Amino acid sequence: MSKQIQIFDTTLRDGEQAPGSKLSPGEKLEIALELDLLGVDVIELGFPCSSPDDFEVFKLVGNHVKRPTICALSRAVESDIRLAGEALKSVTNGRIHTGIGTSPSHIKYKFNSNEDKIIDRAVAAVKYAKTFTEDVEFYAEDAGRSDNIFLARILEKVIEAGATVLNIPDTTGYCLPWQYGEKIKFLRENVKGIHKATISAHCHNDLGLATANTIAGIENGAGQVECTINGVGERAGNTSLEEVAMIIKQHEMGFHCNIKHHKLTSISHLVSDRLRVPVQPNKAIVGKNAFAHSSGIHQDGMIKNRMTYEIIDPSEVGAGESKIILTARSGRAAIGYAAKSLGYKLSPQELDALYKRFIPIADKERNVSYDRLKGMINNMN
Ligand code: KIV
Ligand code: ZN
Repeated sequence: MSKQIQIFDTTLRDGEQAPGSKLSPGEKLEIALELDLLGVDVIELGFPCSSPDDFEVFKLVGNHVKRPTICALSRAVESDIRLAGEALKSVTNGRIHTGIGTSPSHIKYKFNSNEDKIIDRAVAAVKYAKTFTEDVEFYAEDAGRSDNIFLARILEKVIEAGATVLNIPDTTGYCLPWQYGEKIKFLRENVKGIHKATISAHCHNDLGLATANTIAGIENGAGQVECTINGVGERAGNTSLEEVAMIIKQHEMGFHCNIKHHKLTSISHLVSDRLRVPVQPNKAIVGKNAFAHSSGIHQDGMIKNRMTYEIIDPSEVGAGESKIILTARSGRAAIGYAAKSLGYKLSPQELDALYKRFIPIADKERNVSYDRLKGMINNMN
């Protein structure tokens, strides 16, 4: 039977941590409403102790978004957790996401501490968070570079304290997919009581491996994935939600999720606009060129059958139709196709003449618009 993967969206928290990406409470509400319609299971809405806006936004969103779990981030610090708990009073299903760094460098340099003291702080944080809500997620920050034996020890203790979700972040995007997968497998096999909790994959993209690592996490037992629309986030960003959702859909791996795929393009545009972060044109699934074809060989194949060069039908992700872009690399097949779509039925001789006129113009201009081609056809006679 196919296993449902929970989609935890952190666009409004980790995504908003990208430089220059501050959202107003109104903009957060607008995006949260769309995330609800998209079908995400959890919306991480913010870090209530970080600013009054990030506290107040829970009330605003709580009044309008009832289905998904709404999550508040905190450090393993009592005052943070108290504010997160208070912020969640106005939501229907609330989760506190608390945690602490577990890698040698975090323990030594960030906390000037030792493993036993870190475990004590983690347990105290989870216990305190449980006084506000049943649903408590623990993150072991920099788990990607943490010792697996220590991770197993701390996770066992936080499960005893009541953590229901265990987040294993590759905070610095360091792991290779097989390493991240083995880490999840090791924890699944060695942490006492792990069956009582959901393992969550949270990967960063510093080496361009966030999506691959997240998939390795799922294959090895993660039941939740943490991601952002367009992969926005600190430095090189987070795992991109649209990539994970489409990988789960396109490959039969025994998993499914509740994402409404046809909404992926519109929410990508909304998030890009409100965060003022453009999407790179060649971005998988939602980039402007993700379904655009400009070389003659590919265009010829596409015109014969879309499946020659596309593994996803763009309409499935709400991106309309595949595009045949006219450039100096286009061949007669693409020019004929474009002319036909403009309503012209050209004879082979006419097509040949048009192609000869087209190429020198295309060599000067990057793309030739369909309107321009129309003008060229009209001027032929
Ligand atoms: O990357 C990370 O470790 C995080 C945690 C705060 C969950 O975003
Ligand atoms: Zn993160």
